[in-house]
Amino acid sequence: MKKKKYKVKWSRIFLVFLFLGITVYFLIQTFHNDSNRDILLKVGYSQEEVTELRKKLSNIEIEKLAEQSYLSYLTDLLKEEEYHSENLFSYIDYISQIDADYSLKDVVYFVNRKISYPYSQKLVDVIHQDYFILSRLDRYMHYHSDDAKEIVTNVNSDLDYEFYTNIQKTDTSKDTLLIVNKYYQLEKDYHYGDLVVMDSQYDNKSGSRLSSVAYEAFKKLVDDAEKEGYHIRNNSAYRSYATQNSLYQNYKNANGLEWADKWSARPGHSEHQTGLALDVGEKEHTNLNDFVNSKEFIWMKDHAHLYGFILRYPEGKEYLTGYGYEPWHYRYVGIEVATYIYEHQITFEEYYAYFIKES
Ligand code: DAL
Ligand code: ZN
Repeated sequence: MKKKKYKVKWSRIFLVFLFLGITVYFLIQTFHNDSNRDILLKVGYSQEEVTELRKKLSNIEIEKLAEQSYLSYLTDLLKEEEYHSENLFSYIDYISQIDADYSLKDVVYFVNRKISYPYSQKLVDVIHQDYFILSRLDRYMHYHSDDAKEIVTNVNSDLDYEFYTNIQKTDTSKDTLLIVNKYYQLEKDYHYGDLVVMDSQYDNKSGSRLSSVAYEAFKKLVDDAEKEGYHIRNNSAYRSYATQNSLYQNYKNANGLEWADKWSARPGHSEHQTGLALDVGEKEHTNLNDFVNSKEFIWMKDHAHLYGFILRYPEGKEYLTGYGYEPWHYRYVGIEVATYIYEHQITFEEYYAYFIKES
């Protein structure tokens, strides 16, 4: 009997405390809410703004905001898609240092990514460029230009380094999308996949070799062009490191360093060594310079991408690729990538930096 009586008493006491606890909690909440409303009104926020702010801000945040003057952008800031509440006071700090028109979206972008550059038109223009790469921001900001498009294009092409400096071994795991240029080199004995000897009906020379994937695509291209009355042939396909070396040295000895570097890759830096590139010409025309004036070139210019080839060294992009305009040099990258590059009129350097290279 006694035991039972105690049990009943404890549970009653518990219930009383629970009730008191809940009541106190709600009283504190009401007090907080009332005082929060007052705090915000006092700082200068309108009734509507207060309603908005109280929906989205914690009591602690509101108390901290009371220490600041009225912020006209605050309700809009909270509506930003990428708004992170833990960054609230960093956004406010960042905005307080801006002495120009700004967009909240940009501020949120900068702060979320801990971009420490002060707000500037250059910074804004750069991040809004089509091929902007966040990991290259420091390089963009240090690049000697005020034109955002030029900055992003050039830095993505590594032009902030002199040609043949900052050289690295290219990442051959990128498969047919590996890059070879004045910054990326190949191992001496590298070529892509298996090299196959080209049939004489596709070749102005004899015994030329090409990587089988590029050769299959080239055969189809030549066959289709032939049906339309265009006679396209290979003039130079795979070249070993040693062959490229003697070619380059000969050019250099005959015409000097500048000329050689404009028209020939140094050994280890030629796409010809991959077996994925070739120089084309009309049937029985082995002089590369003839090609630009042929009907075959007109056809090639607008059809090569349909077979996976890109015109690798286009006119007007010499400063990006580092080579003179070569209407004869085509590189196999596959139909999808070739079509993108053709349609967007960008170089493989720009494509690679944005879509292929990580970091
Ligand atoms: N002519 C091109 C750039 C090469 O030598 O690979
Ligand atoms: Zn070539």
